[in-house]
Amino acid sequence: MNNKVLIVEDQYIEAKNLKVILQKAGYQVSGIARSANEALKIIEEDYPDLVLLDIYLQGKLTGIDLAKVLRDKNIAFIYLSANSNRQTLDAAKATKPYGFLVKPFREKDVLVMLDIAWYLHRQNQESIIDLKLSTASISRDDFKEIIGTSQGMSEVLNNVKIAGPSNISVLILGESGTGKELIAQCIHRISSRRRESLIIVNCAALPANLIESELFGHEKGAFTGAVDKRIGKFEQANGGTVFLDEIGELPIDLQVKLLRVLQEKEVEPIGGQKKKIDVRIIAATNRNLEDEIATGRFRMDLYYRLNVFPIVLPPLRERKEDILPLARHFVNVYASKENKVITGFTDYVVQTMLNYSWPGNVRELENLMARSVLLASGDMISSLHLPEVKPQGTIAGYNLRVKTITENERDHILSVLETCNWKIFGRGGAAELLELNANTLISRMKKLGIEKKISSKNTID
Ligand SMILES: Nc1ncnc2c1ncn2[C@@H]1O[C@H](COP(=O)(O)OP(=O)(O)OP(=O)(O)O)[C@@H](O)[C@H]1O
Ligand SMILES: [Mg+2]
Repeated sequence: MNNKVLIVEDQYIEAKNLKVILQKAGYQVSGIARSANEALKIIEEDYPDLVLLDIYLQGKLTGIDLAKVLRDKNIAFIYLSANSNRQTLDAAKATKPYGFLVKPFREKDVLVMLDIAWYLHRQNQESIIDLKLSTASISRDDFKEIIGTSQGMSEVLNNVKIAGPSNISVLILGESGTGKELIAQCIHRISSRRRESLIIVNCAALPANLIESELFGHEKGAFTGAVDKRIGKFEQANGGTVFLDEIGELPIDLQVKLLRVLQEKEVEPIGGQKKKIDVRIIAATNRNLEDEIATGRFRMDLYYRLNVFPIVLPPLRERKEDILPLARHFVNVYASKENKVITGFTDYVVQTMLNYSWPGNVRELENLMARSVLLASGDMISSLHLPEVKPQGTIAGYNLRVKTITENERDHILSVLETCNWKIFGRGGAAELLELNANTLISRMKKLGIEKKISSKNTID
């Protein structure tokens, strides 16, 4: 594999710095172009393998315009960008780059990003089967607990194989219940950190005033109520991995502190001294972080730090082939727990499962199978208790005001909360009735502007 890199960057000093970094690491630099036209000339003369591409350049054409040519020519490229606005970001993303480097970047970031880009580029060239054969020592057996052979799931697992063994930060995106936590556990398990801890932090479940001390720790007496010293989650995970679940819920002031941990690799406990730490970060969210950035709720620089290697879990309705294998798996698990023998599903049940939209994804399927196993009287699952879908629409030419999905969701959650007297956690709580993880429910409530009236029953049973 050749490794000739072209730098397209109009800032002379930045381009020079990059050139030094690349040459030191053994790359050949085929030139520095300050405009898209200059770049095109160099590409004609000396076909590079990869282009490091600034977005704003000298001349009329931008890096995004050039990216389209690079795609056609099958040349890998990574954007070099300072903070850009949403529109530029979307346009850049649409060109499917192999990575983003946010200025200012460290030498290490550049080299890791290049490694990944080569890998992804190669992956693009090879068929999925070839890739399966070539992917180092990790095999499908390493992900035995992950059910699913759909194209969408195979892509996810390929990405897990690529990112897993490295130390790179991974951002797992996907709707609620798609398996984000499961994937995070897999990544940790196939990494060199597997013998150290995987510490899971749910950013949505921590009370705002405690998050900092939870994450970074505090010294005894650092604030009223700090009776003892606390070791923060990052320090607990030293040498291992921190999984920051629901990262979209992290308050903005803590986002700044997290960014510092990522950049400087050090934590500062409240009232204490800075300490060097070595942790790998895996983050997950069911929010669209780009929308959060656009509305000022999420910092763009943190997003880029986390988004080094995104893994997107497709919703279950987009990988229908996985529904039955998952359903069988869960039936086996719950039947053996209940000491029942269940051999399969009736055709009606199979069809119903395939046609259903699974808004709660794999978790909803798992809960439904658990219930169906309990209720089954014979050796087949012959009925399903799916939530009722109420018909909506127009009546004879009258346009009815149709409630939006969000309004419906809000009303439904509110009515369930009222039913269980605002109990969220535990048996008979709203989370159980809604078949949602309690933390997911809390984050949805926040998102929908539902004020929590925490009752004394809100303890985990
Ligand atoms: N592909 C899969 N194979 C087997 N089990 C799965 C798969 N995907 C998810 N699950 C199971 O479904 C349940 C939900 O998965 P998980 O908690 O990882 O989802 P999540 O995306 O983190 O959800 P949320 O956004 O609500 O936190 C778990 O019990 C998990 O083990
Ligand atoms: Mg989760």
